[in-house]
Amino acid sequence: MARTRDIPDALITALRDARHVCILTGAGVSAESGVPTFRDAQEGLWANYDAQALATPEAFLADPALVWRWYRWRRDLVSEAMPNPGHYSIAKLAGLLPRVTLITQNVDSLHQRAGSTGVIEFHGNLFDDRCASCDTPTTADDTVDIPVCPDCGGNLRPGVVWFGEGIPEAALRNSSAAAVSCDVFLSVGTSSTVYPAAGLADLARDNAATIVEINPNPTMHAGSFDFVIAGKSGVVFPELIELLDV
Ligand code: APR
Repeated sequence: MARTRDIPDALITALRDARHVCILTGAGVSAESGVPTFRDAQEGLWANYDAQALATPEAFLADPALVWRWYRWRRDLVSEAMPNPGHYSIAKLAGLLPRVTLITQNVDSLHQRAGSTGVIEFHGNLFDDRCASCDTPTTADDTVDIPVCPDCGGNLRPGVVWFGEGIPEAALRNSSAAAVSCDVFLSVGTSSTVYPAAGLADLARDNAATIVEINPNPTMHAGSFDFVIAGKSGVVFPELIELLDV
């Protein structure tokens, strides 16, 4: 577990001097809220299903009712979860620094519920629905197995980005712009295995930003970061706030 002495003074100085800090978060930031990551084994009802195989356009085409059941279960799980100290401290950081851009791969809205604003949702939002045929955003009828589009009659689908799908254009544009213009880039709670999100740290480094990984299990990319803080986001961020807020 990270303690204050694990956060180098040079990182605090870089954060104090930064005009723009960019934070990319992944599933690890919500782990302390009890939200399982895609790469965790699923529990209970869904123990025999592979989450990565359910979150695909192919799975939805093959069995939309099954995919809807899984997403409704996830919505219930996330609705009952609460933001953790990592989410709250990241929201607080925005008030301590001149400019913070928060990009999340998470679809659970926990950053927003902790008070973060202007969050760039790289993989969409678990609570949005849209038509799988005509793309119109709408609200699905939760009382039917496979909700349909009021405009075209096509099947509605959860508005998240599935494996193999493109990133929403504005999210990709705004994230890339933030990565190339920031002075410090924090990569938090992500395995850095899913692109293009994982490439944002490279973009930042190539544009002379200080890049930092915060993860209790440093990733295979740890060697390319300027600082690696091996701790949980719910522990490291409150400490960062304490060190900065003086
Ligand atoms: N604090 C910080 N990091 C943590 C914590 C914690 N408390 N607990 C776990 N982690 C780290 C793990 O060590 C792991 O490296 O979080 C990372 C989670 O990795 P993934 O499950 O691969 O999540 P993520 O990187 O967000 O996945 C990217 O892939 O599953 C798809 O679309 C989904 O957005 C997701 C994307």
